Amino acid sequence: MGKINENQIDVLFSKKFLELSNMGGEIRKIFMLGQNLKQKNSNIELIDLSLGNPDLEPPIQIKNLLIHLLNSNEKGSHRYMDSAGLPEVREFLANELSKSEKVKLTKDNIFLTVGAAGAIQIVFRTFLDINDEVIIFTPYFPEYIPYTGNCGAKPVFVKCDEFHQPNIEDFEKKISDKTKIVLINSPNNPTGISYKKEKLIAITNILNKHNEKYGRNIQLVADEPYARVLFNEGKQHSLLEMYKYTWLIRSFSKDLGLAGERIGYLAWRNDPEFEQMQNTFRQSSRVLGFVSAPRLMQRLIPLVYNTKVSIETYQKRVDSFVSILKSGGISVQKPDAGFFVFPKCPIADDKSFCEDLVQLGVLCVPGSGFGQSGYFRASLTQDLNLIESAAHKIISLIKSNNYV
Ligand SMILES: Cc1ncc(COP(=O)(O)O)c(C=O)c1O
Repeated sequence: MGKINENQIDVLFSKKFLELSNMGGEIRKIFMLGQNLKQKNSNIELIDLSLGNPDLEPPIQIKNLLIHLLNSNEKGSHRYMDSAGLPEVREFLANELSKSEKVKLTKDNIFLTVGAAGAIQIVFRTFLDINDEVIIFTPYFPEYIPYTGNCGAKPVFVKCDEFHQPNIEDFEKKISDKTKIVLINSPNNPTGISYKKEKLIAITNILNKHNEKYGRNIQLVADEPYARVLFNEGKQHSLLEMYKYTWLIRSFSKDLGLAGERIGYLAWRNDPEFEQMQNTFRQSSRVLGFVSAPRLMQRLIPLVYNTKVSIETYQKRVDSFVSILKSGGISVQKPDAGFFVFPKCPIADDKSFCEDLVQLGVLCVPGSGFGQSGYFRASLTQDLNLIESAAHKIISLIKSNNYV
């Protein structure tokens, strides 16, 4: 096939793919603006706070443990395997989660996945039909939209308040007879905020009430890749404990800094109603073609589960960035976890604010890319000095334009 020219794209590629791939794209747009600027002016220092690519290196022992695993002469350790994952690794995770989530799990309640993203695909593929509705709280991880669209389902958005906490009245109003899944992402990308326990209790109470009244069960997908990147040793509230129809999704992309190695898992309650679920997810991963999560990474997890990247480093960055912005008059909620900050824009037009920032060499993503205009997301995945310099540049832009 020769080089594809722009005019052929509509004919060549599937309409569904083109529709899905055009969803979102704010991050890529800002990244491209930065690249263009760099091409025009190679002396400009770009501080890229646009991509959510965790920069902290994995804990030091991981490298040696991987070498150790590779050196083992155990036959068959690189072969195909049960798509649910190695039984001893599932057993290990079941024991850990039984403690942390306060529900007793077995290895048959765990399915190892290709990151959290892979787990979302498996759950969505299993439950969603065309025209089903998925409730998503705003602001949200933009990939939820094409993931939902890929199953022919529809996102239904629920508002959060100025503290980035779910609006419970709006949630109750948005539930319909088509609601199949409620998606909760706490700690949240892009805000870094954890939803309060009382909000989660209110949401699950409403779901239970609804299920009882209409004789059907709404599934709750708890997408929690930041659960173990909480500051001040904060504890994650257990949705598995609160609500029976919870599909808990976690990964080691952020807490172990292994985003490129693609390892995560899906967990659910040990309940007779879910006896068939592991087989069902095996079929789902087969349909999607993942087959199983990377085997070497599975073997690594029990050896390193209780270590983490330096959460203090993320916290220091967040604290410093937030405090500089606040001193410049910007309104911002202090995150509970991770490396994202979601300040309020000093002007309503978040896109033009972020474009102005690009001219100063600072790349941030407009809140509208996460379904909430009037804000911007900064991903603090750079060294502290660059993050502080970016914060000062943001303040200088505001002062020079008399925004506040
Ligand atoms: C909210 C959320 N869910 C899922 C993912 C995907 O994570 P993973 O790398 O584990 O697939 C991300 C990654 O940034 C995320 O922010």
